Amino acid sequence: MNIVWRRRLLRSGIAVIVAGLAIQLVPYGRNHVNPPVASEPVWDSPSTRAFAKQACFDCHSNETEWPLYASVAPVSWLVQHDVEEGRAVLNFSEWQRPQEEAAESAEEIGEGAMPPAIYRLMHAHARLSSADLDLLATGLTKTIGALH
Ligand code: HEC
Repeated sequence: MNIVWRRRLLRSGIAVIVAGLAIQLVPYGRNHVNPPVASEPVWDSPSTRAFAKQACFDCHSNETEWPLYASVAPVSWLVQHDVEEGRAVLNFSEWQRPQEEAAESAEEIGEGAMPPAIYRLMHAHARLSSADLDLLATGLTKTIGALH
């Protein structure tokens, strides 16, 4: 490699690093607030809650476990967005308010849409076996059906 190319490579390397540092200054994605748990559903069994905690609570409860990488942009933006949107449509910690989407839980699980694939990739605890997913889906239907 000649010197010109080496310089170009170095310059673009530096540019990437500077850009990577600059995006850390964006004031979005590090507001890792867990509001208090107001009220949970009456779970049909402790194992339904345990499975839901493993596979759903990070985005659908106020008991989110924020991983370290959730503070590093641009991953932090994705995580923040998922949690905000997830809590807005279904929040197992705010059962006192209407949870209109909750009834779709079993269907979402059955279709493999929830928990989202990218999340399953990052979290071993969310990779439930298909038997456990079935138990979770049935348990959630009982839990949600018992209330509405
Ligand atoms: C990584 C975050 C994350 C996890 C984990 C997760 N969800 Fe979601 N979920 C979302 C987001 C974001 C939305 C709203 C956007 C969408 O529908 O994709 C959503 C939407 C939903 C909806 C509404 C369906 C719709 O789109 O109308 C249901 C029901 C749901 N999730 C159930 C679950 C269940 C049950 C689990 C656990 C098995 C789970 N989710 C795990 C992020 C997550």
